[in-house]
Amino acid sequence: MNSPVMQGLNLNAPSYVKNARLIAWVADMVALCKPDTVYWCDGSQEEYDRLCQKLVDAGTFTKLDPIKRPNSFLACSDPSDVARVEDRTFICSEKKEEAGPTNNWMAPAEMRATLQPLFDGCMKGRTMYVVPFSMGPLGSPIAHIGIELSDSAYVAVNMRIMTRMGKAVYDVLGVNGEFVPCLHTVGAPLEKGQADVKWPCNTTKYIVHYPETREIWSYGSGYGGNALLGKKCFALRIASTMGRDEGWLAEHMLILGVTNPEGRKYHVAAAFPSACGKTNFAMLIPPKGFDGWKVTTIGDDIAWIKPGADGKLYAINPEAGYFGVAPGTNTVTNPNCMASLDKNVIFTNVALTDDGDVWWENMGPAPAHAIDWQGKDWTPEIARETGAKAAHPNARVTVAATNNPALDPAWDDPAGVPIDAFIFGGRRSTTVPLVTEGRNWVEGVYMAATMGSETTAAITGQVGVVRRDPFAMIAFAGYNMSDYFQHWLQLGRKLAASGATLPRIFTTNWFRKGEDGKFIWPGYGENMRVLKWMIDRIEGKATGTDHLFGVSPTYEEMNWTGVDFSAEQFASVTSIDKAAWQKELQLHTELFQLLEHHLPAELGETKAKIEQRLAA
Ligand code: GTP
Ligand code: SPV
Ligand code: MN
Repeated sequence: MNSPVMQGLNLNAPSYVKNARLIAWVADMVALCKPDTVYWCDGSQEEYDRLCQKLVDAGTFTKLDPIKRPNSFLACSDPSDVARVEDRTFICSEKKEEAGPTNNWMAPAEMRATLQPLFDGCMKGRTMYVVPFSMGPLGSPIAHIGIELSDSAYVAVNMRIMTRMGKAVYDVLGVNGEFVPCLHTVGAPLEKGQADVKWPCNTTKYIVHYPETREIWSYGSGYGGNALLGKKCFALRIASTMGRDEGWLAEHMLILGVTNPEGRKYHVAAAFPSACGKTNFAMLIPPKGFDGWKVTTIGDDIAWIKPGADGKLYAINPEAGYFGVAPGTNTVTNPNCMASLDKNVIFTNVALTDDGDVWWENMGPAPAHAIDWQGKDWTPEIARETGAKAAHPNARVTVAATNNPALDPAWDDPAGVPIDAFIFGGRRSTTVPLVTEGRNWVEGVYMAATMGSETTAAITGQVGVVRRDPFAMIAFAGYNMSDYFQHWLQLGRKLAASGATLPRIFTTNWFRKGEDGKFIWPGYGENMRVLKWMIDRIEGKATGTDHLFGVSPTYEEMNWTGVDFSAEQFASVTSIDKAAWQKELQLHTELFQLLEHHLPAELGETKAKIEQRLAA
């Protein structure tokens, strides 16, 4: 045997770690990655402070002014490591058709053979952090445990905010408990005497999922969803396959509670693609004209949704923190988010001001001078001349959910909240109206399945290109997209058969632009006007008008108190241009051709009906 223990390597496993499979796996990964030391995270505040100090000493973190931003830090990444790398993300199921045409695929054996030499010795000169975490309330029947092994202290401290991370996970795990093994390396081993860099990473990157064996291997990036493996890798890609097998859903959705002046409370789950407004909508503050209305946050990015015994769908937020987009966030667009950032925050890739605070585009008045995210001098003059950004467009904040003043009292409830409506919303400058309700479950699923959205800085590659992003899950479904559609349709059939009232399905688009290139719809808090219309629909108070693919509001049935938005402006965000929709349906056809294998017949039938109406 060539185990690390036999080789004289010390795993340093604390006595409270009693799970034999875990210890054996860590031993194997230590033997493979060859870290200098192994450190088992306990999740304590003392440990968090110590690791943050270590990151300050290494130059990765800059401690911010303790009065302006108590206990907060700024990290600036390598310019080559700033967003999720979808072209380097793989679903390695045994069969290619299991991953489907929208995922990168490689056979597991081939991928393992590819990764083996990359991981061999990848942690040399570094510490391997053993990060135990629970997605969902600790010990709840809907939660799942993961263990991330990472050579990045930045990952360890971010995971403490983003998940329930720490020692208590081992009590739940016990001797025989199940966990998802998540192996992560920045892919930058240090030879003896070699100096480290502030943000180690590798130009080669692999974000790999083995859905059948429920394993995650991530190589070469230290950023966001590439490295914080509880988030997209586990809570979406692996969890969606768990959900398919077990009859539930793992979705790229915020969850909010909305209470009307009569005190009736509804819950809405909304899927918008990356950097298309989930955090904003989840923290919405009702504008003028909405006295007595209240919106509370359950989650801002991911929802796990399970059918309850009463036939309703119950949603939990598996995360414990927000990894939110910084640029564009300010006290007008998202006051609750700004208030969440007062203390205990990790900022990544924003600018450092001369007084030890942070700044990003549209945060507020620009400072006369700052150090930009790449460490260069930045002034408004330089920005005007060169277009240089102070913050990277995908700059992020990491903050605990408990910092959010609008946090829903049930955000941590293992029972979840009952969902009354789903929303699917892309970013489209043209074509797609402000809001539409599907006339039934299938029509709603059709609109979600065919959703298009312009790409954003949350993903490496070109920004602003319209692509199909079914259910905002193009990058996150851990299995064949057509089977995923079928799973949604089946769930609808099952709920309907039980006599339950199905959640309503709406689609939205906050992003139509006028001829001046500016957004027409005021957005942000004003999205409450659309949310209220949805509640009115649920309560049977709004009739709307029927069109090609659903029902949209009339100008008269919207509440316009407190805003100047004319019927003409409303028409310009709700109009349906037949020629544009002919082109749009052509894109649906192309999507369905790509997804032909296992594509549910209902979707083709729904498309045919829309085409008939369009031709009429
Ligand atoms: P991920 O964390 O990547 O999943 O993003 P997200 O969906 O949570 O997006 P977020 O709420 O962080 O918003 C992303 C960007 O869109 C920010 O710059 C926001 O200011 C902007 N945004 C959010 N809501 C609106 C809106 O209603 N209208 C307009 N025009 N922009 C919005
Ligand atoms: C997204 O890209 O949808 C995010 C950011 O929420 S990341 O955590 O990097 O995936
Ligand atoms: Mn997201």
